[in-house]
Amino acid sequence: MILFSTFSGVYDAQVAETPHSWYAHFRKEVATMNTYVTGSNIKFLRESRKLTQSELAEKIGVSSKTVSKWETGKGLPDITLLQPLASALGISVIELMNGEHITNRNVSANLLRSKFCVCPICGNAIHATGSAVVSCCGVTLPPLEAENADDDHGITIESVEDEHFVTIHHPMTKEHFISFVAFVTCDRIQMVKLYPEGNAETRLQLRGRGFLYYYCNRHGLFKKKV
Ligand SMILES: [Fe+2]
Repeated sequence: MILFSTFSGVYDAQVAETPHSWYAHFRKEVATMNTYVTGSNIKFLRESRKLTQSELAEKIGVSSKTVSKWETGKGLPDITLLQPLASALGISVIELMNGEHITNRNVSANLLRSKFCVCPICGNAIHATGSAVVSCCGVTLPPLEAENADDDHGITIESVEDEHFVTIHHPMTKEHFISFVAFVTCDRIQMVKLYPEGNAETRLQLRGRGFLYYYCNRHGLFKKKV
């Protein structure tokens, strides 16, 4: 059995503040294309322009590891990176978007094998207890690969009575922020939505052993064993 939990609203909130902005128009255009850039397209275009992953990453302000994730189908560029990515590759956004859909096999799994997907268009965050075909805004979403916290995404956990106060040492601007925190054990999940210009912190009941996940809209999913 596959279970899903989901929430959205980050980009909706931002666009609502500027309904006539280029960004609102761009997002609407992308949503109606019914497709999204693929890792194989990014890799093909990068190699055809004789750029290394590091060189492309530097042009658009992400890490080479992030580009590697995109090219291996373990994440997708945030929608705000599509125009810079297209420019860096010397093509239009339409050409960048013209690629293949990603399809996941539908297999069952237990809660500790949880998968997280994030829609790069609307910010919708989806949790599944196993592999599944997940689609949002016309985009088929690959399961995200979590990496261990790095220096730019450090986390502190402090005990406060019967809860734990979780602080992520990370910016919370409109362009670069942590969008959710989730704690997964063998039999339950707690998921907390965070918002740009808010605080990158929350209280969680950390019962038992598990994994704490948190998602940065630019750098992807991170995890810490608790
Ligand atoms: Fe980040």
